[in-house]
Amino acid sequence: MTDKAIPHPKALPIIGNALVSINPATAFTDLQRLADELGPIYALDMPGYHDQVVLTGPDLFGEACDDSRFDKSPAQRLRAVLGDGLFTAFTDSRAWQRGHRIIAPAFTGAAISRLYPSIVDPIQQLAERLVRMEPGSDVDVPTLTSAMTLDVVGLCLFSYRFGNVYTNTPTPFLQALDRALTLLAEGAGKKDLYAVMHPRATRDLRESAEVLISFVDDFVKRRRSMPDGNAPDDLLQHMLTAADPDTGERLSDIEVRQQTLTLLIAGHETTSGTLAFALHHLAAQPQVQDWAREQVDEVLGSDRSVLPTMEQVGQLDRIHQIVDETLRLHPTAPVLLRHPRRATTIGGGYHLDAGATILIPLPKVHIDPAIWGPDAEVFRPRRWESVGQLPAGAYQPFGVGVRGCIGRLFALAEARATLAVLLHRFEIRDPHPAPLTIALHITLKPQNVTLRFLARPGVS
Ligand code: HEM
Repeated sequence: MTDKAIPHPKALPIIGNALVSINPATAFTDLQRLADELGPIYALDMPGYHDQVVLTGPDLFGEACDDSRFDKSPAQRLRAVLGDGLFTAFTDSRAWQRGHRIIAPAFTGAAISRLYPSIVDPIQQLAERLVRMEPGSDVDVPTLTSAMTLDVVGLCLFSYRFGNVYTNTPTPFLQALDRALTLLAEGAGKKDLYAVMHPRATRDLRESAEVLISFVDDFVKRRRSMPDGNAPDDLLQHMLTAADPDTGERLSDIEVRQQTLTLLIAGHETTSGTLAFALHHLAAQPQVQDWAREQVDEVLGSDRSVLPTMEQVGQLDRIHQIVDETLRLHPTAPVLLRHPRRATTIGGGYHLDAGATILIPLPKVHIDPAIWGPDAEVFRPRRWESVGQLPAGAYQPFGVGVRGCIGRLFALAEARATLAVLLHRFEIRDPHPAPLTIALHITLKPQNVTLRFLARPGVS
């Protein structure tokens, strides 16, 4: 069989598709626009990179989900900060395998039930802060959700209260984290010419990383010095004490640092963005808000000071649908990178070299009209009432296979509980309706979500 030619945008000598087809400032929207022009598979010629192939068709992505033929390609720049942490390690490395076997049991359904009180504690603080605000105040939602989700991982991971929800200026740790992610998104962390041309960004990234590392190292040191039996039973303690069930090995100090930073970063921005996107849509569609609130009131009752139990959150299928729909349109970890384990063909004849990198922009994959119908780009949570078994490549906001998100159940519990509490206690209004703008900041972040939270009768 002869290979089918993979379409590609017109390339220029030396720079290939850089700047002309893919501009660094708009790279993410460019990837999606090129899919409209060239179809569900196309190739890019970017200087300094081996073959790059972009897949946006669910059928093609479905094939690339198969772990026996394809594997994750860890993002090199993130490795500069997170090293061999779970997110950035190579699947075949002992570091990933050891880390996965030790950490995955801390994220099972039973483990999340045990962590649940620490998940809802900062949610309660967020609701209290909103009640105490001057009625009618504008709230910068992404800032607040970012503060809360870091407080949640801090409490669950370290039994530590960052206290971000209560402060008006972000704590030094949150500032350093935001700075590091912004710099990484802008290109810092690359080992090539970037470091030479942007010495200031390179230095700033190193300084931000040092703040993060010294916080984590101090914390771990204090924890290790606690007498036996006094240490809290949290994720950090699990990482410090659990042994790899296959080899009996424990995580080294460097591994504990890298895994801790990984979990703080991976567990914070993604859920924060998801909540901010969901709240934007709820404010923009009051009828969806009323529909979801009706069920929340039915399950949680009229006492608006209660926090939902995990079982109650499990019954709120309308909230589940809102979160699923939010992650369909705004998968906050928006690009998956994979590569074939060996030279192969995909889509019935497109040849892929072993060294090819496959880019999968999930927001484009998730709006295929063949799967979701003509209103695929509309936020309509009720579509999930009739969604049956989806093909593998149709909807994967948490990634695929063995490298899929370890924190999926944690994130879903947190996002669902937060929306339940907010809908139970507040009417959410958008005082300045405007089209949503989105930035790519490693994760997808909504830019202009300024909302008002009006306390419902009985909330004090
Ligand atoms: C991996 C999405 C929340 C920890 C991933 C991947 C995606 C993802 C797409 C795979 C990335 C890839 O293949 O390159 C999300 C979304 C979240 C979320 C959308 C929230 C709505 C969380 C939380 C935690 C977490 C709360 C932990 C507290 C991780 C880790 C990995 C990962 C450690 C790497 C797993 C591995 O490769 O072994 N996540 N995530 N995530 N996520 Fe999440």
